[in-house]
This record gives sequence, structure tokens and C-alpha cells, in this order.
Amino acid sequence: MAKKKNVFVCMECGYESNKWLGKCPACNEWNTFSEEVLYKDKGGSARAVVKTPKKLEEITLDNYDRIKTDNEELDRVLGGGVVKGSLVLIGGDPGIGKSTLLLQITEAIGKKDLNILYVSGEESESQIKLRADRLAITTDKLSIITETNLEIAAEVIKKSMPDFVVIDSIQTLYSENVTSAPGSVSQVREATATFLRLSKEYGIPIVIVGHVTKEGAIAGPRVLEHMVDVVLYFEGDRHGSYRVLRTVKNRFGSTNEIGVFEMKDKGLVEISNPSEVMLSSRNESVIGSAITCLIEGTRPLLVETQALVTSTNFGMPRRMATGIDYNKVILLMAVLEKKLGMQLGGYDAYVNLTGGIKISEPAIDLAIVAAIISSYKNKPIADKTVFIGEVGLTGEVRHINLIEKRINEAYKLGFKRCIVPKVSCKDLKSKDIEVIPVKNVSEMINMIF
Ligand code: TYD
Ligand code: MG
Repeated sequence: MAKKKNVFVCMECGYESNKWLGKCPACNEWNTFSEEVLYKDKGGSARAVVKTPKKLEEITLDNYDRIKTDNEELDRVLGGGVVKGSLVLIGGDPGIGKSTLLLQITEAIGKKDLNILYVSGEESESQIKLRADRLAITTDKLSIITETNLEIAAEVIKKSMPDFVVIDSIQTLYSENVTSAPGSVSQVREATATFLRLSKEYGIPIVIVGHVTKEGAIAGPRVLEHMVDVVLYFEGDRHGSYRVLRTVKNRFGSTNEIGVFEMKDKGLVEISNPSEVMLSSRNESVIGSAITCLIEGTRPLLVETQALVTSTNFGMPRRMATGIDYNKVILLMAVLEKKLGMQLGGYDAYVNLTGGIKISEPAIDLAIVAAIISSYKNKPIADKTVFIGEVGLTGEVRHINLIEKRINEAYKLGFKRCIVPKVSCKDLKSKDIEVIPVKNVSEMINMIF
């Protein structure tokens, strides 16, 4: 007999508690608990078949059979296409373009003579048709079903045996065997487990869409991350046109790859040279703007950091950071105060990464510092300069990996000077671009203008 149990579950991370809590102890989010009824099976039966462990050398490698989506950005993020029998989760804010991207790739998959089943719990058939028309999708391999009942959706997959399945979205499906409301943690988990079983059993790749929600009654995709094979997140400003697709987990490839897209009136367009786009709306030699080169997965990416330092009107100076860690900005400003004697205490500072992307790589430190100095001194940074380096608490400029790759990218885009950590350029030879090694921030300040 299954035993009934009432629990409170965090909608963000799935943490369970016997009583309601205001703040989740696991993910530190506020007001995310909701009550759910669980039916727990008592005890498990022992497995009938006892497997013998294998030696490492006895295990043969399965060659992953992948379906290419012919969308270069998406294929790269996936590690070369969707692996057959894998479960892929695409998360992101509502309206960011998840449904658009998945509908777009059906055209290329259809051309490979593979049948696609699109299960939608959000939009009606005519809405999907309207969107498909807009995206110029003409494939006859795409079948659409609007269904929110999990058991029926699973039955349809078993019956039609498609080669590729899209579930849009996991939060709209509900199972009759689970008593809690659609979108709750138990419902979303049950639905994911069902699709996991289907994908492994029949070798069908299934892509599920999960909405990220700030608060409210639906569970976020984070509670599913451990169940699926690949987790991708769509980032970017909904009002801006650039979108970044990022790998968070990939059992069949590397993580930290990114794919860059632009939302146009005919859907998402791949951007194969993001550096160019990121810098396209930039004016040369403006005050408070510095360029850096980051590595995202395997690709170098040039981005612009902007800083605005103005005198404070109220007692407390304000600091703001967009696209980079707020604490990093505070810390770097403290280093500048101490090491360069800059009196930043009387100034507000706003630091921004253009292009609507978020970066956590330490290589950006030097560019943040340069942009702040430029705005503080009200002088533009020397033309065509790139800053690469991490800044430590004592003001030292620390080692950065893959320095040559970054310098090459800067050269390709017409930059003339690279300011890099001294420790990273021991055996660096580059004749095309001027490489300026610096040891600490006070050495760098002489090189900025
Ligand atoms: P959508 O894929 O519906 O988002 P999600 O599934 O992640 O919730 O994206 C919807 C947004 O994209 C919507 O605001 C309109 C815009 N859009 C375009 O700009 N061009 C297009 O061709 C399409 C189909 C959508
Ligand atoms: Mg959608």
C-alpha cells in the first residue's frame, strides 16, 4: 500500500521539508515552498538479476548515434547533435525563444527523413501552425498534438514511434497518478521520469522545454537537472535581440559551450561570429569602455565592458553591475582605492557588459578596472586595445589560460594592442599584434591611455 504524506517542496530546487519555510535552506530563495501530497511506496523489492561487475577494459564504447539539427550553434552546444535515446532539457524565461528554436530545427530533421512529434501543452494547433508558417516550415514529417495529460502523451509516443520528440513544456503536463497540481515539483518530476523511461527504452531523443520562473506556482527546470542527460539554458534580454544558449550539463560533450542567436522576424538566426556582433554598435575611443577577450567553451569572444563613474549626490555611493558579479565590481574598486589611491568613495559606479550576456570568467577583471579608471579620469582608452587578465587582491595581474587563442581573436578583429598578465606570456610569440605584459594594476595604468 502506498502511504500518504504531506510535504512542503521548494519550487526552485526541489528541497523537501515537513513544515512550511520562508527561505529555502538549500538554494536560499525566498517564498518558494508549496504544499504537495506524496504517495510513498513502502520498501523496495530486491532485484532479481544480480549483475557481475565488469573490468574497465571489458567495457566497449558505444558510438553515440547523433541526429544533427543542421543548426550550427545548437549542434555545437549539444556536442555535435542530439544523441539518440537522450533526454535534453532546454530552460529559459518565458518568451525567450525556446518554442521558436525547437520548431525551427524540425525542418532540417524532417529533411533527414525522420518523423518528429511535437507535443504542445501551451499553444493550440492553429497557433503552432501560424508560427510554423512564419518560420517557413514546410516539412511533412512534423506531427503536432496538443495534450496536457501525461499518460496520453506517453501513449501517443509509444504508438507513433517518432524519431524525435519535443515536449513544450514539461510544466503543463499532469499525471493522473499524482495528486498535486500541474506544474508542481512532483508532477514535473513524474513527467520527466516518464519521458526518461521512454527515451531510454525506445532510443528516441526527447527534448523537453522548461520555463524558468522567478516565483509562483510552477516548479523551475532546476529540479530536473539531475534526471536529464543534457541541460541547456537560453539567456539574454527578452527585449534585446541577442540570445545565448549555454550548456550547463552534457553527458555526451563538453559544457560551457555557447551558441549565439539573434531573434529576427523570421525566427532565430545563428550568429557564427559573435565577437563582431558584440562590438558592432560600439564607438571607438569613448570614455569608460574597454574590450576583453573571453573563452566560452572552445570559442573566443570579444566583449565590451562599460563603466560610468559619477560623483555621489547622496551620502551612500551606489554601485551597480549588469552581466557581471556585483561583488567583483566592489572588490576591484577596493583594489583601485588601495593600490592606486583613487578616491572612489565619493563616486557612484555603474558597470555593464554589453550585448545582454552574463560572464563569470576572471579574465574580464582587467577590462573592468580599465573601464572604471577611464571613466574616473574622464579619458578615453587608447584605440584598438584589448585587456586580458585577472586582478588579485594585492593588485597583481594573474595568469589566464589560452592566452594565444584570445590574442589571435583580437588580431582577427583588427585590434593592435593586447595588455596581458606578465606571467602568461613567457613563451608567447606574436608579431602581428603588440603584446604588453603587465605585473600589476599600477603598471597597467601607464599603458591604458
Ligand atoms: P517563444 O519561442 O514563444 O518563447 P518561449 O517558447 O521561450 O516562451 O518566443 C516568442 C518570442 O519571440 C515572442 O515574443 C515573439 C518573438 N518572435 C520573433 O521575434 N520572431 C519570430 O519569428 C517568432 C516566431 C517569434
Ligand atoms: Mg513556448
